[in-house]
Amino acid sequence: MSNGASTAVGVVGVGYVGLVTAACFADLGHEVVCRDINPARIEALQAGRVPIYEPGIERLLDRNRARLHFTLDLAELTARCRIVFVCVDTPAMHSGDADLSRVNQVIDELAAAGGRYVLVMKSTVPVGTGQRVRADMDARGLGHIGYVSNPEFLREGRAVGDFMEPDRIVIGSFQPADGEAVAALYQDLNTAVIRTDVASAEMIKYAANAFLATKISFINEIANVCEEVGADVSVVASGMGLDERIGSHFLQPGVGYGGSCFPKDVRALKQLAGNSGYHFQLLTAVVEVNDLQKRRVVGKLERHLGSLRGRRIAMLGLAFKANTDDMREAASLVLCDRLRSEGATVVAYDPVAMENARALLAADVQLAGSVLEAVTGADAAVVVTEWGEFRSLASAAVRDAMATPLIVDGRNLLDPDQVRRAGFLYESVGRPSEAVRETVRIGAGEPA
Ligand SMILES: NC(=O)c1ccc[n+]([C@@H]2O[C@H](COP(=O)([O-])OP(=O)(O)OC[C@H]3O[C@@H](n4cnc5c(N)ncnc54)[C@H](O)[C@@H]3O)[C@@H](O)[C@H]2O)c1
Repeated sequence: MSNGASTAVGVVGVGYVGLVTAACFADLGHEVVCRDINPARIEALQAGRVPIYEPGIERLLDRNRARLHFTLDLAELTARCRIVFVCVDTPAMHSGDADLSRVNQVIDELAAAGGRYVLVMKSTVPVGTGQRVRADMDARGLGHIGYVSNPEFLREGRAVGDFMEPDRIVIGSFQPADGEAVAALYQDLNTAVIRTDVASAEMIKYAANAFLATKISFINEIANVCEEVGADVSVVASGMGLDERIGSHFLQPGVGYGGSCFPKDVRALKQLAGNSGYHFQLLTAVVEVNDLQKRRVVGKLERHLGSLRGRRIAMLGLAFKANTDDMREAASLVLCDRLRSEGATVVAYDPVAMENARALLAADVQLAGSVLEAVTGADAAVVVTEWGEFRSLASAAVRDAMATPLIVDGRNLLDPDQVRRAGFLYESVGRPSEAVRETVRIGAGEPA
């Protein structure tokens, strides 16, 4: 950077993305100043406590403590940083559009602080945001503030590895020099760097998430048809996934996608297309399939229990996926309300998300301290999140503790034959029968 006063990297918003970004940049050798508006979060980080659950982050923060600074005061950041990553949340509004109020607030604050920055948008923002921000800043005489789009693709639960070994880094800029300054921060990572215009960078992020969500809804529909026609979706998915044009990732059927990204990003892209006069039909179906998928568990419970009124259902897993405590748009939230509205009593357990559960679940949902406590006296156990500890669910202790030994496996985590042999009634997703499962690899050098 031209002024050379400071090489510290600024990170605004230290949630799942911001904290991982800060810790990883520090590990790559950069000084990092992090600013958040949540006093409890900053206090925890200053005291060496990690406010989110993300494997590996604690070690990384510890290792780089000397290079990391946490503050509530934007001036501390602007005094030392010339490249500022914006990592604040951009949740969906009722209309489906992304709520950019936090992003706009950060931009206004940075503009008011004075000075020259390159503002790097890591938050997921609708295509066209960069162009609008650029035009607004130019109109306010802030042409000296650079703007770069650098969307983030990390997955919660694997965020550190995803940041350090990304499939690609996307950098969209208006000025080549701004893009180069951002690319330089990543120079020690061995990966493809896509340099592009800002709108294309913004679209890459939305298109990638929408495609992955489409894959999930597609395999969920295939699973539902498998249930009708007696095929086994796990065999079908591996048979499909071996085709290199398709690939095996995101072909696991389940209770539908959730989390802080897919639901809101799919809706935002659909809304963005609609606002521009284009009806994105495919995404309408993707969203509808996903909404219905979360509810299919209820029918599977009723098949065995009849009415759910007065039934006690153990919900195993609340986080939207394993290895995170994030419950934003988790399938568990929808399922929990569906079960309650059918008159069931819900007892819930998650290995790490219990603090969020208390805040997000209705007061009449009972929280258990262990799997065994949750299933004791239950008429069914529903696996909602694919936590490793649920793999041993089909034990004699669990069977004996349950009022009805029924497992509804919303993640196909368990082996159907084993579970049934252990004396349970068992329902999963798209695996209705004892279908043949065998893959034989043939190739050069192997006996015919
Ligand atoms: N979580 C993911 O897996 C993921 C992956 C890729 C991209 N993203 C995108 O990254 C962005 C951040 O997501 P997240 O999950 O980290 O959100 P988050 O809610 O975990 O964190 C956002 C943080 O920003 C802080 N904040 C809000 N307004 C602020 C302000 N004006 N100044 C300073 N801090 C402020 C909040 O207090 C919070 O700590 C979103 O746009 C999201 O779509 C998320």
